[in-house]
Amino acid sequence: MRPGPVFSKFALSKSARCRHKLLFRFWPMEQIVILDFGSQYTQVIARRIRECNVYSTIVRFDTPASEIEAMNPKGLILSGGPSSVYAKDAPLPDKAIFKLGVPVLGICYGVQVLAHFLGGKVEKGDKREYGKGTLTVADRECALFKHLPAAVQVWNSHGDKLTRLPKDFVVVGTTDNSDYAAIEHPKRKIFGIQFHPEVVHTPRGREIVANFVHGICGCGKSWTMRNYVEQATEEIRRQVGSDRVILGLSGGVDSSVAAALIHRAIGDQLTCIFVNNGLLRAREAEVVQEVFGRNFKMKLQYENASALFLRKLKGVTDPEKKRKVIGKAFVDVFQTATKRAGKAKFLAQGTLYPDVIESVPIAGNPAAMIKSHHNVGGLPKNMKFKLLEPLRALFKDEVRQLGVELGLPKEIVQRQPFPGPGLAVRCLGEITGSKLEILRKSDAIVVEEMKLADLYYKTWQTFAVLLPVRSVGVQGDERTYDFTLAIRAVESQDGMTADWVKVPYDLLEKISTRITNEVRGINRVVLDITSKPPGTIEWE
Ligand code: XMP
Repeated sequence: MRPGPVFSKFALSKSARCRHKLLFRFWPMEQIVILDFGSQYTQVIARRIRECNVYSTIVRFDTPASEIEAMNPKGLILSGGPSSVYAKDAPLPDKAIFKLGVPVLGICYGVQVLAHFLGGKVEKGDKREYGKGTLTVADRECALFKHLPAAVQVWNSHGDKLTRLPKDFVVVGTTDNSDYAAIEHPKRKIFGIQFHPEVVHTPRGREIVANFVHGICGCGKSWTMRNYVEQATEEIRRQVGSDRVILGLSGGVDSSVAAALIHRAIGDQLTCIFVNNGLLRAREAEVVQEVFGRNFKMKLQYENASALFLRKLKGVTDPEKKRKVIGKAFVDVFQTATKRAGKAKFLAQGTLYPDVIESVPIAGNPAAMIKSHHNVGGLPKNMKFKLLEPLRALFKDEVRQLGVELGLPKEIVQRQPFPGPGLAVRCLGEITGSKLEILRKSDAIVVEEMKLADLYYKTWQTFAVLLPVRSVGVQGDERTYDFTLAIRAVESQDGMTADWVKVPYDLLEKISTRITNEVRGINRVVLDITSKPPGTIEWE
């Protein structure tokens, strides 16, 4: 991802975040602790557990056992990872974690860690086991495989493999390539599996995770967004007391849900500041005012700074320069707005769990590259607020559920990601008011038609891009010389990679006809058929 300011959240350094860490305290009733050995799937494991209505926390692999014990986990999971347990600087846990007396599940590299500490042997396999495989369940009584058939499709990704069982372990599953693909220490409830139950390519993996957390660790189903609303409301009240809170509302999912939650807790002690930078999509400013001002009756301070942003952007064509100009203007406008909002002790942010997990910087781990473009900018030093981050324990899908629970409309809860610099990175070349108007009208048609076809919420992002290219056309009997508009629709899981969506031809035809008929200034519509990589999702 490219660097660029993110306006719904001010980026903070890890150390600054740690200083703020205790501000939003949250104690789940029960939790599973996941030790992260650098797998790109660690967060997926955490999400799968939460989908079982059990809270999960990710900690670094070397977190001292005493700290983990203090978290009172009902079970531990050792994640996969790209290393080999015999490598010189292999990530290894505090071995006292095996004495905590709670069930343990080692996944992939995690099973090798188990073996390393508990008397087994790990060696380089003759061939890497990668991709689909079949696990033959050797012990149908094994609690991990309860209600599963004797042969289960699984997904593997490992080079090393177990060649000797750790002491007192038994084999509970095999694959063509491994006699020890799944192992168990029945008395101590320690399990190891070579495959990845968390990925979608292990179709019954969710049941395996559920068997572990419910059947083996004995967790109930207390982690629900309904419960979270109650706990978080209390915690916000406790933390804020009678002070005031300011929140930068962008209209995106995170800041919107944070606003609704905080408002539920403290009502008028919250002031939301919504900056219209003139780079928003059609009706965006109106929807925010309608939903938060009129429906929720929040104190909403609307700052229309469109003219200022346009002025600052005059003559700017370089994409990164655009981002910088917009980022700086935003901070200035926001700072002035906070002064107008009156004295407040807290600044609320919609920071999510993936932003605060301390990732393990292990070479070869693609997850380490994920968040770079969220790291530019920063809370201006002279803004002396305490942070209030009531979503910092949640994943994005949980935030959407929470939004529904709080009564936010689908239009906001299911909102597609929208870049902080807004339409500026979709209006190529120099930005002018009239070009933005053309883009806004065209984009609204793309969105409307995709919604009518029930495709909008099924795509990751769908939008229009205005190209700085004019070409000759003929409309009515007249020759035209107008702009070209590109339609971009992509599928993605996380924005890191994306596939272009095969939008049906008749729908494309309808969109193209409507745009050329209804939007003056466009005489040609094209479709972007580039995936990421090699393209990026945004054009700038
Ligand atoms: P790219 O274009 O890099 O985008 O494939 C990946 C995801 O990030 C969003 N994006 C941004 N978000 N500030 C943001 O807040 C930015 O400067 C920015 N640039 C891209 C993009 O919409 C997509 O979801």
